[in-house]
Formats: sequence, C-alpha cells, structure tokens
Amino acid sequence: MTALTMTDQSTTHHMQHRPIAVFDSGVGGISVLQHIHALLPNEQLLYVADSLHAPYGNKSPQEIQSRCINITDFLISKNAKAIVVACNTATAAAIDMMREKYNLPIIGMEPAVKPAAEASRNGIIGVLATTGTLKSAQFAGLLESYGRNVKVVTQACVGLVECVERGELQTENTLRLVKKYCQPLLEEGADTIVLGCTHYPFVRPLIERVVGDNVTLIDTGAAVAKQLQKRLAGLDLLSTNPVLADVKFWTNSQAFDAEQVIEALWKQKADVGFL
Ligand code: DGL
Repeated sequence: MTALTMTDQSTTHHMQHRPIAVFDSGVGGISVLQHIHALLPNEQLLYVADSLHAPYGNKSPQEIQSRCINITDFLISKNAKAIVVACNTATAAAIDMMREKYNLPIIGMEPAVKPAAEASRNGIIGVLATTGTLKSAQFAGLLESYGRNVKVVTQACVGLVECVERGELQTENTLRLVKKYCQPLLEEGADTIVLGCTHYPFVRPLIERVVGDNVTLIDTGAAVAKQLQKRLAGLDLLSTNPVLADVKFWTNSQAFDAEQVIEALWKQKADVGFL
C-alpha cells in the first residue's frame, strides 16, 4: 500500500515536470508564448513554428489538420503534458479533431469577439483575422453567440502573416498593409478591434499608429495563458519546480535568418532547433 502511494506520487510528480508545448503556423504564436512564460515562469516550454507551411490562412481545413497531427505527434514524442494551439486558424480547423485523437489537455484560441463586444462603447467592433478563421464554422458560431448585439466588421489581412514571418515589423510595406486593412474598419466606425491572429500583436505598434488612441485593441494571448493555467491546475499538472525553466524552439523555416527572427520576436537569446 505504502509502495503504491509512493509510485502514484512519483508518477504525478513526473507528469508535472513535463513541458508545455505550444505551436503555430509560424512565429506568430510566440506572442502567446510570451504570456505563458510570464504567467508560468517555472514551466518548461516547447515551441514549434511550422514556418515552412505558413500561412495556414489560405489552406484547406484538411491540410491544416494534417499539419496539426504531424506537429502534435512530434511534441508528444518530446514528452509534452499539454498542447497549446497558439493559432486561431488551426484552432478553427483542427481543435475538435485533436481533442478526439489525443488524450492530453489541448488549449486553443479564437478571436476575442465576446470581450470586444463588452468593451465597445458604440457597438461597432472590427475583427482582423485570416481568411481561414473568418470563413470557419467556429467563427460563425462565435458571431452567433456574442455578436448579436453589436455590429461586427471583419477584415482578412492577406499578406500580413508573411511580413511577420520575415521579421518585417516596421517596414513601409507592412505599414501599407496595416493601413489597407484597418481603414475599412475605421470607416465603419469600429471603436474596438480584435487582433484575431497571433501574428498581429507583433505589428501592434503599427496598428496603434494607424487607428489612433480612440480605438481599443484586443489581444487574446493573456486569456489563453490564464486558461492554460486553470486547466493544468485542475488536473494537478502545474509544475512545482521553483527554478526558472527553459524554453526550446523548433522551426522548419528555410530562411537564412530564421533564428534571428525568432530571437527578435522572443526578445532574448533563443535555443532554436531545425525540423
Ligand atoms: N497565427 C495564425 C492565427 O492565429 C495563423 C496565421 C496563418 O498562418 O495564416 O490565425
């Protein structure tokens, strides 16, 4: 009996110290990883940037699902205790399938329509996201549930993910795209804009410059980190390791500066492996 209890404890202990895995179509999910690392600094984190296959925004749900399976299998082989799909597009296309297929906590994310509807003063909200997210049944469901009492103006930002993938956060071309995509939302009178893709927080300074002080921007990263913490706490899977844990990145990008782009976004030196 005593021996059994000890085994149980050491198994739980072992589980708690396994890493949390986070992935995205590319480097965008690093914006979510930052929130997770800030909230749970003693958790070991794994990050996969599927940059070779970015953007997901114009891929079919089937293609996205097969990428998600490929990456999740890899992360499970690295001993992940939970998976965070740090991508709105992949969540919409694949989260139901993933939850059926895998027996570990899977946290996804969706554009923050509900918080935006609550924050808006004039009842007009804008959503910046990928074509895939805006076309998805999940998004239609979100509008159905939370968009009824507000006017929701959506805008697909074709090409913006690619700018972030190249690390072009401040260029004239990126600013031009940001202007092009924010303008229609401003013309419709949106006073609150949802950053419905995890790449977009990295161009937030440009978006702020374009939309001005009177528009509230809403990013989901912090809420995802809190949701992850809650799920892991409920399953007794939070790390009890008091030591600051490390973060390991993998990318399949073939860009010569892939590592520099990751370090620029992560804002510190990063341990980057190639898939
Ligand atoms: N970062 C992703 C998202 O949150 C997907 C971008 C893309 O690959 O199109 O939607």
